[in-house]
Amino acid sequence: MDKCLRCHNYSVGRVMKRCPLCGRILTRLRKDSNEIVIRGLCPEDRDKLIRFYEQLSDETIYTRFFSIIRYFDPYVDKLVSSSGILAIVAEEASSGEIVGVAELVLDKEGRAEGGIIVLERMQGKGIGTAMALSMKELAKEYGIRKVYGYILADNIKALRLVKKLGGRPKSYYSSMIYVEIPVEDG
Ligand SMILES: CC(C)(COP(=O)(O)OP(=O)(O)OC[C@H]1O[C@@H](n2cnc3c(N)ncnc32)[C@H](O)[C@@H]1OP(=O)(O)O)[C@@H](O)C(=O)NCCC(=O)NCCS
Repeated sequence: MDKCLRCHNYSVGRVMKRCPLCGRILTRLRKDSNEIVIRGLCPEDRDKLIRFYEQLSDETIYTRFFSIIRYFDPYVDKLVSSSGILAIVAEEASSGEIVGVAELVLDKEGRAEGGIIVLERMQGKGIGTAMALSMKELAKEYGIRKVYGYILADNIKALRLVKKLGGRPKSYYSSMIYVEIPVEDG
């Protein structure tokens, strides 16, 4: 049936009307000769997303998920179909391939757990920052009160990113840091 898998309510007859986030372009950035488009994740991105996760190194996967995952189908299915997750992707305009993913998993208290990952060869080019800033704007738009997350204690890049977003570490565990990022500035 023609409908947006993310927000099942938006199907109008046989015409597929997208949910407010699906495919919506949030920002673009140009790096070297590459244009990167930051946009909402669409259900049609499923295969591209699997390719994205499959090319990541074990180390990058571990830094994001705290375990080494090799079979991403169930995770990706949830990302593209759950209405409780706001997800965005960074797409390389020239190849059409996904080079980054960021998500907010909403809870019932109006908070959301954030997660972000960028392809190794594309790291250090500002893509993580651009996605995180877009996510912060979306969090505001969706009325999310607080964004939080867990980061490995030696993950300098992620900690710098959190600081840039106005966030800070709140609790320290042995190998992990719990961070909070304010949604409203000030
Ligand atoms: C964390 C991550 C998303 C950042 O993405 P990115 O595209 O590299 O980020 P940016 O290029 O916007 O840089 C963000 C910050 O990291 C710093 N950084 C980037 N690459 C770096 C490197 N090799 N060494 C040190 N710092 C680095 C940048 O300098 C920047 O901080 P600054 O602006 O204060 O200088 C990316 O490194 C990643 O995917 N890591 C693995 C997954 C992960 O750790 N996720 C976070 C936990 S959910």
